Amino acid sequence: MFEQLNPTKMDPILGLMAAYRADARVEKIDLGVGVYMNDQGLTPVMRAVKKAESRLMELEHTKSYQGIAGDPQYNARMLDLLLGPHHPALKANRVRSIQAPGGSGALRVGAELILRARPNAKIWVGVPTWPNHIPLLGGAGLTIEEYPYYDIATREVNSEAMMQTLRQVPAGDIVLLHGCCHNPTGADLTKAAWDEITCIALERGFIPYIDIAYQGLGKSLDDDVYGLRSMAEALPELIIASSCSKNFGLYRERTGSISFVSATPAQADIVASQAMAVARQIYSMPPAHGALLVSMILGDPHLEQMWKTELDEVRTRIIAMRKMLTDSIQDNAAGLDFMHIQKQRGMFSFLGISSSQLQRLREEFGIYIVSSTRINLAGINSGNIDYLATSLRTVLA
Ligand code: LMR
Repeated sequence: MFEQLNPTKMDPILGLMAAYRADARVEKIDLGVGVYMNDQGLTPVMRAVKKAESRLMELEHTKSYQGIAGDPQYNARMLDLLLGPHHPALKANRVRSIQAPGGSGALRVGAELILRARPNAKIWVGVPTWPNHIPLLGGAGLTIEEYPYYDIATREVNSEAMMQTLRQVPAGDIVLLHGCCHNPTGADLTKAAWDEITCIALERGFIPYIDIAYQGLGKSLDDDVYGLRSMAEALPELIIASSCSKNFGLYRERTGSISFVSATPAQADIVASQAMAVARQIYSMPPAHGALLVSMILGDPHLEQMWKTELDEVRTRIIAMRKMLTDSIQDNAAGLDFMHIQKQRGMFSFLGISSSQLQRLREEFGIYIVSSTRINLAGINSGNIDYLATSLRTVLA
C-alpha cells in the first residue's frame, strides 16, 4: 500500500524551521516560524507558567482522562479572557467552549462542526492568510473561497475590495477573520472595519469564524478582541478558535479552545454536544497540561498579574523591534519604504522584497524568511540587528 504514496512537500513555514536548524553558521538569523524570542534570542517558559507548573506538580494527583471538553474551569476562564466576564452573550448563556489541541486543533473541530450543520458550506478566507488555514479547513471538506485582504502596493488592508466581496457572500456561508495581529501581514482591521463587517454579516446572513492566536500581542488584551466582542454581541452566531501558544508561550503544549456563540441557550447546548462528538472522532480528548496551567494562572490574581506584566514586555519588545528595524534600513539604496512595518502589529509583517533578494539573504547571510517575505519581528534582537541591517542593505543595493 505505502508504495502508492509519493513524497509530499513540507509546510513552507515548518520546512524553513528545519532548514534553519540544520544551518551551521553561527551568525544565522531565524525570522521564520512565529515563535516569540527575547533579546537573547531565546524562547523561555513564561514566569507565571513556570510558577504554575511547580504548583501543579504538587497539586496534580492523577493523569486520568479529563473528558472530551477538557477542563471546565479553563473553558470558563478562556471565555472570560476572550469576551470579558460581563459580556452580554455570556450573560444570555449563548456561548459554549471546549478545550482543543492548540489553535489548529480548534480550527479543525470548528470546520468539522460547520460541515455537520451545513454539508455544502463554503468558507471565505482572506488573501493572504496563514498558509495552514487552507489544508486545515479545506482538508476537513469545506470549500474554500477567497476575499481580497491585503494590498501589496499600499501595504494596508484593502477594506474597500474586502467589503465589496463580503457583500456578495451568500447566507449561511462562513467568513474566516483574524481576530488581531494578522498572520502573515500584521495589518489589522480597524474598529470601523469590524463594525462594517458585522453589519454586512447581519444583512447577508453569513457566519464569521474568528481565528485569534495573538490576543495581547497587538495593542492590549482588550483592544485585540474588539471585533470578536462586538460580533459576539451583535450576531446570532459566531465561531471562535483561540490559542494559548503565543500569549502564554505554550506552543508545544497544544493549548487552545473552540467556542461557539449560538442564538439561544438550547441551541448552544446542541452545538456543544456536536462539537464534543467531533472531538471524540478526531482525537477523543484534549491534552491537559497547558490548559491546567492557563486555568491556574487566570484563576489566581497574583499569577495573572505576573503573566500580564510579561505579556506587556513581549508586546513592547516586538514594537521596539519594528522601530529598530525600520530605522536601520529606511535609507536603503533601493529606496524601498519600510514604514508599514512600524504601523503594523503582532509578530509579523511582509518585508516586501523580491524573491531573489530573499534567496540571497538565506544563502549568503543565513537569514531565514518565509517566501511570502513574512518576517517574525521577535527574531530580531540587539545582538543581531546590525548584521541583519547590513545584510538587508547589501541585497537592496
Ligand atoms: C506561524 O505562523 O509561523 C506559526 O503559527 C507556526 C505554524 O504552525 O505555522
